[in-house]
Amino acid sequence: MSTPTSSRPPAAADRMTGYDLRSLMPMTAEIRDGHLWIGGVDMVELAHEAGTALYVMDEATIRHQLAEYVKWTRYHWPDVDVVYAGKALLTLAMTRIVAEEDCCLLCASGGELAYAVRAGFPMERVQVHGNNKTPAELTECLDARVGRIVVDNFEEMERLSALAADRGVRQRVLIRVTPGIAADTHDFIMTGAEDSKFGFGLNQGLAMQAVKRALALPGLDFEGLHMHIGSQIFALRSYAKAIEVMVAFMSQIRAETGVSVRMLDVGGGLGVAYGVPDEPSTVQEFGKVVVDGIKAECEKYGLPVPRMAVEPGRSVVANAGVTLYTVGSIKQIPGIRTYVAVDGGMTDNIRTSLYGAHYEALIANKADKPRDVVVTVAGKHCESGDIVVRDASLQSPETGDVLCVLATGAYCQSMSSNYNKQVRPGVVFVRDGQWRFSVRRETYEDLMRTDLG
Ligand code: LLP
Repeated sequence: MSTPTSSRPPAAADRMTGYDLRSLMPMTAEIRDGHLWIGGVDMVELAHEAGTALYVMDEATIRHQLAEYVKWTRYHWPDVDVVYAGKALLTLAMTRIVAEEDCCLLCASGGELAYAVRAGFPMERVQVHGNNKTPAELTECLDARVGRIVVDNFEEMERLSALAADRGVRQRVLIRVTPGIAADTHDFIMTGAEDSKFGFGLNQGLAMQAVKRALALPGLDFEGLHMHIGSQIFALRSYAKAIEVMVAFMSQIRAETGVSVRMLDVGGGLGVAYGVPDEPSTVQEFGKVVVDGIKAECEKYGLPVPRMAVEPGRSVVANAGVTLYTVGSIKQIPGIRTYVAVDGGMTDNIRTSLYGAHYEALIANKADKPRDVVVTVAGKHCESGDIVVRDASLQSPETGDVLCVLATGAYCQSMSSNYNKQVRPGVVFVRDGQWRFSVRRETYEDLMRTDLG
């Protein structure tokens, strides 16, 4: 798996304003009277009304991204499932948007599945994966009648088959294969396929053994193969290379078992822009590489073209979201650095301290002013590593300003914590000049809800 960071612009004051940062922002972002607006809502007013820290999601951008995936994959081949990876951001409202946009939902745990059930998501469009699904989670999947389960190891296959056979059903499964391609942001490298906790490697024949076992087990309906080569991927040829490997394996499966693979799922991973210099591939380019690649490789081996699936997470929600904070203390250490502390931090965005991720920020109430100072945006938690943006170019900050960190829609709320007994921020969805809480801010009562005293 790659380390999901992005390229880092040099730390320098710049003349950039909110206008220059628009490639990182939701598509509805605009600047009116010096304020940042998203979805027709003034972010400064919103911060004052709804309170900070606050995650803000632009519904139009989310829907647009999902529609782009549907359009540019099915443009090349009619049978493609766009399976949104809920781990990037999952709320009940988000789940309903995914259903309305004709997409499927990828769940990584029983908890994510519970969201799908609660939201009334069509269960035949739910896919569940994970390298160690518990027996309880497998039962939950069968109870909910999920469409597909991505199986990851032999024990799980045996267990799932027994549970399904007990109910007199055959569960559709994909077998997760490690194609031996580890993608990083800009290139791919071949790795030892055995060295992954996910799936079955090809090198020692484990993947073939898994296919044969799945075909033999009475409770399983072997539908096809699954891969996922990493996240925040910029180099599309990593996918092309992995697809070559996977289709060659499909051909081997047909030769050894006579079975044609009905589904090939290439996973997620398309990169997004966190900084202005980042130029990720578009969904259109991704769709073409994946679908044309699978078609061409199948033609090469004389195989029927299977149904396909893609599993985007980050690229659906990252740039649709921002986080709003209120600036608190400002500490200047002459000749060293200025710390601008905000009312959140590593509890709502762990990615800076965990991955060294870089974000861009601006002051929402000074959005038309140049970002002419360099400061470090720090959180309020008891760790020196609690940094939101290191060396941020920013408009001159003052206590009470509304600070907006861009491209925080993916893997921020979903990886949040209650460290220091911090309450998690709410998640607001904005659309057509209206806003609503999708998730309300936690209260101290919420913190103690599970504490039995
Ligand atoms: N499918 C599978 C099987 C996955 O494991 C993942 C992400 C996805 C799809 C969606 O990938 P995406 O399109 O979002 O790249 N916490 C890290 C990212 C971990 C991704 C894990 N798997 C981060 O904050 O960068």
